[in-house]
Amino acid sequence: PQSTVDDRSTFDLVVAANRLPVDRVVDDDGTSTWQTSPGGLVTAMDSVMEGREAAWVGWAGDPGESIEPFARDGVRLQPLALSADEIRDYYEGFCNGTLWPLYHDVIVQPHYRRSWWAAYRRINQRFAEAIVEVAAHGATVWVHDYQLQLVPALLRDLRPDLRIGWFNHIPFPSVELFGQLPWRASVLRGLLGADFLGFQRATDAGNFARACHQLLGATRTGDVVSWDGADDDRSGVPRRVRVAAVPISIDFTSLDQLARTSAVRERAREIRASLGNPETVLLGIDRLDYTKGIRHRLRAYSELLADGDVTPTQATLLQIATPSRERVSAYRELRAQIDAQVGRINGDHSVIGAAAVEYLHHSYPKEEMAALFLAADVLLVTPLRDGMNLVAKEYVASRWDGGGALVLSEFTGAAHELSSAFLCNPHDIAGLKRTILEAMHEHPAAKRKRMLALRRRVRSNDVFAWARKYLAALEAAPAKPGAS
Ligand code: F6P
Repeated sequence: PQSTVDDRSTFDLVVAANRLPVDRVVDDDGTSTWQTSPGGLVTAMDSVMEGREAAWVGWAGDPGESIEPFARDGVRLQPLALSADEIRDYYEGFCNGTLWPLYHDVIVQPHYRRSWWAAYRRINQRFAEAIVEVAAHGATVWVHDYQLQLVPALLRDLRPDLRIGWFNHIPFPSVELFGQLPWRASVLRGLLGADFLGFQRATDAGNFARACHQLLGATRTGDVVSWDGADDDRSGVPRRVRVAAVPISIDFTSLDQLARTSAVRERAREIRASLGNPETVLLGIDRLDYTKGIRHRLRAYSELLADGDVTPTQATLLQIATPSRERVSAYRELRAQIDAQVGRINGDHSVIGAAAVEYLHHSYPKEEMAALFLAADVLLVTPLRDGMNLVAKEYVASRWDGGGALVLSEFTGAAHELSSAFLCNPHDIAGLKRTILEAMHEHPAAKRKRMLALRRRVRSNDVFAWARKYLAALEAAPAKPGAS
């Protein structure tokens, strides 16, 4: 249910993320409505916001004038306006042309532009102001991701009464890479405004603490980073901030249940039939992003075809690439490279009626995703670097039948939890080829055992457990919470 709200009432839980949890859908007649965004974060936040006075501050996803706040399922949505120039400089520029490549091991060259940094600072300030407008005295504020790293300190300056948490959905790089950032000290100072900083892996938390030590002179004792607040630019209030790994997850139960429905099972059979019922369906589903290792995967697969280890009548690779950040040049270049690579592989190896690679540049609703997972004998998750990779966990949750095999890059956060997967190094093409063949041909009983172990793991650490754990750590910060 949606309604507009015009009171400036205050909320005891405020979530801030670059995007709102809804997408605007414009009908043929021009009327626009809001649809809940797909994805686990929204589901997780729904669960923690339920029954509380909660608000969500975020960008509505289009350029333009500010939209009035409105209510959805009892949560106040507070849209933040970005102009076309701000989207270019803040979102496409600093977030996705500077921070994203820097935090993903410089897979492509980050650009360090002063005008982008100025926009990032301005928009983070705008977020902080929008948050304080809705936050009740003593409220908990949960800030998400790399787009909003300055918000914690800005908030603390404006409202020292708030309890402030930040969670990084992507990796935090080693100080050797992070140190490239001309504004590195400002980013660290921004984050140290929080009470609790959550990361995907212990390595990410460690990288952050090491950066604070080397670049600000902070010290770390256990999981608390202490900083006297002074650096070259200013002397400030001392900070004690807890940092820890709280790996994110998915809504296991709802995906498991969806994949059991007869409609999804029937659709999975249909998908296999449309592919010509090959012995093996290999699947890749990723945002079209250079971090995902799609080119490495295609390279390995084309060599398997060339070597004769797989044939297009026996196996099909279904590669789905969801359109993403299409105005950023590195993404446009990647798309052209993948188009060419798929064209080349199919030209060389397809036979009439059996394409070697079925490539789709589309996004799909969750029912179709569940059917694709159920139809796939092998899921190829081969990122060069990935904070977590929720697709790997979604595949596992969909395989209620104990079938399927997961090939998973060591460079994902998920690999730290999903050790029963077929782990691979995507840079090692020979090794990746061997791992794909192993996943295709391992004895079914052994494969099943792996999948059941993976399912136990994802079921016990689902997105609700993640959100509870995060909030408990935030409430207890900076003191260490109990072991529960
Ligand atoms: O976790 C990384 C992230 O930037 C999320 O914030 C976002 O949901 C996803 O990747 C997609 O990116 P974008 O919001 O830039 O389309």
